[in-house]
Amino acid sequence: MCGIIGYIGSLQAKDVLIRGLKRMEYRGYDSAGIAVQTPLGLNVKHKVGKVAGLEAMVESMDIDGTCGIGHTRWATHGKPSENNAHPHTACANDIAVVHNGIIENYATLKEELIGRGHVFSSETDTEVIAHLVEEAYDGDLLDAVRRATYRLAGAYGIAVVCDAEPGVIVCARKDSPIVVGQGKSGALVASDIVALIDETRDVVVLEDDTFAKLTFTDGESTIEYFDQEGSEIHPSVTHVDWDVSAAEKGGFPDFMLKEIYEEPRTIRDTLAGRMVNGHLQFDELSLNYDELAAIDRVYIIACGTSYHAGLIAKNLIEAWSRIPCEVEVASEFRYRNPIITPSTLVVAVSQSGETADTLAAIRDARIKGAKVFGITNVVGSPVARESDGVIYIKANKEIAVAATKSFLGQVAALTLLAMLLGQLRGGLTTAQIRMLFREMADTAQHIEQILADTSAIEEAALACKDAQNALFIGRGIGSTICYEGALKLKEISYLHAEAYAAGEMKHGPIALLDEGFPVIVVATKSPTYDKVISNIQECKARGALVVAIATEGDEEIKKHADHVIYIPKVRDCFSAITASVPLQLFARDIAIARGCDVDQPRNLAKSVTVE
Ligand code: F6R
Repeated sequence: MCGIIGYIGSLQAKDVLIRGLKRMEYRGYDSAGIAVQTPLGLNVKHKVGKVAGLEAMVESMDIDGTCGIGHTRWATHGKPSENNAHPHTACANDIAVVHNGIIENYATLKEELIGRGHVFSSETDTEVIAHLVEEAYDGDLLDAVRRATYRLAGAYGIAVVCDAEPGVIVCARKDSPIVVGQGKSGALVASDIVALIDETRDVVVLEDDTFAKLTFTDGESTIEYFDQEGSEIHPSVTHVDWDVSAAEKGGFPDFMLKEIYEEPRTIRDTLAGRMVNGHLQFDELSLNYDELAAIDRVYIIACGTSYHAGLIAKNLIEAWSRIPCEVEVASEFRYRNPIITPSTLVVAVSQSGETADTLAAIRDARIKGAKVFGITNVVGSPVARESDGVIYIKANKEIAVAATKSFLGQVAALTLLAMLLGQLRGGLTTAQIRMLFREMADTAQHIEQILADTSAIEEAALACKDAQNALFIGRGIGSTICYEGALKLKEISYLHAEAYAAGEMKHGPIALLDEGFPVIVVATKSPTYDKVISNIQECKARGALVVAIATEGDEEIKKHADHVIYIPKVRDCFSAITASVPLQLFARDIAIARGCDVDQPRNLAKSVTVE
């Protein structure tokens, strides 16, 4: 949450900062700001709202300088306002700081600093950093930032500039992502590679408790790295292979739609290289297959959409390997005392790889002796680095706040893991594995088929767009997809939506139904198809407007549902992949019809790096 950027080089900093902030806006978009070193001192500008507002404001302003920092905010401490927008300054504007994270001891520090005469102008936790740096400053910004961070408890990715040291940016990191790169025109630091991609694809992912100093002298930029003691270190460089187009809409009206259309490619890329000579290939998992075969309990921990991918995987893991599998939201897992032994496998699923609760759960599980596998989309992310092994989902950059293609990538990666466990535990033969793999690969084509004609989805969405509520029901794998369908709808259209296992309807939710109440039913061909039809009839009898996701060729369903969205026939376990696509489009169509910003829904941010 929150995106920070810093640039020092030969271009006008204002332009580079604004461009980078726009790319990172998915991380938070309630206010934005920049601080640029100019011949007249630090020029700091803030604006409430999206980066476009800040851009319009500074466009005509003469902010002449080639070194600066910027921030796009998702409010934690203090409401969105100009005063609370970053950069925060101290020393009468001589020091400016941008910060992503939360300073947990800020209240104590603030009281202490006020006691020593500091004057605060915001309600944020971040401002204490500016004042701490001010106090520690003795002619060396790097040293001052280092000493200031000793006092901080919590998470931070920060970039700091000061008037007294033109051409210098210092950044530091603890539990919040920071990437640094030497670009074509200068050096950059940001919360996300996406902000650097115009300039470079070779980046250093800063480790916790390390620092970087970016300087620009005589037309040359330099980046030096230091540990907590101030000794120079030489971190390794990561090459990013996705290109600028991943951060642009490519002709689509919004990122969400673009990313849904990238789902076939996500499936293909996630599966690429996983079947070699007829055998599943997982070189990057740190456990050997004997150790994996000894696993006797699996926990899948995740948040939001990633948690829903876990619900789907539970069905497959238990069916194929007979290993008990629990799925838990990370924010609960981390605060209870789950049964963990050395033969427990914890699978942490996180698109961003930086979700605070998931990371805390990983650390806790490892301390308790579990083996941890991460499933993530971001190379070098904290989840990847802190897990014993990692499976990348290869969804490429996902910009829209609502997860779509990454969800499908997660389901595909988890399915592969379930197949591997099934094979090692004797639940699946090699021939079955090959067949399942082939069928999963075919879902890429099935998704293309769904995307080729979306008219039934659009019609159903039009019929539901004015509703206040919606219910999603299904059975088995169908019910797990419903949780994701309901989340997608509520987060981007602000329509209240709930999901239930269809068998639960008579135990309460059916009381909600009256004339025209939308009920979206996943009614694909499955072992419980007939029971789902009975549930549809019960809904219809109470006046509900039924939208059914059904299997191509199923004529029977037309007698029961008001709208039928057909998807290609697949094995039940793969319906999680195919049926999710129309549900994502359905949510988007409704949101667009209701005039919502589907890429940046209110109150949300793409990376939840705070608890
Ligand atoms: C919903 C959505 C969120 C995320 C959740 C976890 O569309 O995107 O619910 O799934 O915040 O994020 P990651 O997967 O990055 O840990």
